Amino acid sequence: MTKFLTSSLGKKTVMALSGLFLCLFLLEHLYTNVHLFFGDGGKEFNEASHSMVHSILIRIIEVVLFLAIVVHVAQALLLTKENSDARPVKYAVDGTSKTSDWFSRNMLLTGSIIFFFIVVHLYNFFVPYRVTGHVVGPEEAMATGGETLAMEVAEALSNPIYAIIYLISVLLLAFHLNHGFQSAFQTLGINNQKYSKVWKMASVGFAVLIGVGFGAFPIFFQLAKYIGFDALNWNM
Ligand code: HEM
Repeated sequence: MTKFLTSSLGKKTVMALSGLFLCLFLLEHLYTNVHLFFGDGGKEFNEASHSMVHSILIRIIEVVLFLAIVVHVAQALLLTKENSDARPVKYAVDGTSKTSDWFSRNMLLTGSIIFFFIVVHLYNFFVPYRVTGHVVGPEEAMATGGETLAMEVAEALSNPIYAIIYLISVLLLAFHLNHGFQSAFQTLGINNQKYSKVWKMASVGFAVLIGVGFGAFPIFFQLAKYIGFDALNWNM
C-alpha cells in the first residue's frame, strides 16, 4: 500500500480521487448557493447552510474535505516537481487547442490561484460563521437582529473588487476542471480511446456548469447594485 501510494501512479490516483471528491463538493455548494436566488430575503439559503452545521454526516464530510484539499495541494506540488525533474510530458490527456494546452501545462498555477481564493473565501464566510460567531444562524438572527450568512454573502458580492476576484477565480476553476475532470478519469482507467470524446464533452459540460453557475452570483449581485434593487428580496 505504502509502495503504491508513493509511486507515480499512486500519487496520480490520490490526486484524481481528491480532485473528484472536490468536484462533488462543488456541486453540493452550487446547489446550496442557488437558494440565494429565491428572493426570500436569504431565508432558504440560511436554513440550508444552518442545517448542515448540525448534521454529523456533514461535519465528517467537512473534515474529509479539508483533508482532500491538503492532500490535493501536497500531491500537486510533489507531482509537478517529479514531472519537471523526470519528463517533459505531464499529462495523459493532451488538449487539442492551444488554449487547453496552456491550461493543462499550468494546472499548478491555476490551482494556486484557486487555493488563494479558497483561503479568502473561508476567511470571509467560514470564519465569521463558524469560528468568531460574527455571523449567526437564522433563529439567532430573528432573536437578536444579528447578521446572517446570506447578508454576509450579499455584502461581499456587492463589492466590485470582491466580485471581480470571485469571477476570475471561478473562470480559472472552470479551466482547471476542463482539463482535470477528464484527466482524473484517464488516471483511474475509466477513460479509454472509444469513449474519450464522451469524457471530453462531459468535462466541458461540467466546467461550463461550474463556471456559469458560480459566475452567476457575483454578476447577479453587481447587477442588482447598479440597477438598484435588493438582490435578496427581489424588490426595489
Ligand atoms: C475546488 C478545487 C479543486 C478541484 C475541484 C480540483 C480538481 C482537480 C482534478 C479533478 C484534477 C485531475 C487529477 C488527475 O490528473 O488525475 C486536478 C489536477 C490538478 N490539480 Fe486540482 N482541483 C482543485 C484545486 C486545486 C488546488 C488548490 C491546487 C494546487 C494548489 C490544484 C492543483 C492541481 C494540479 C497541479 C493538478 C495536476 C496534477 C498532475 O496530474 O500532475 N488543484 N485537480
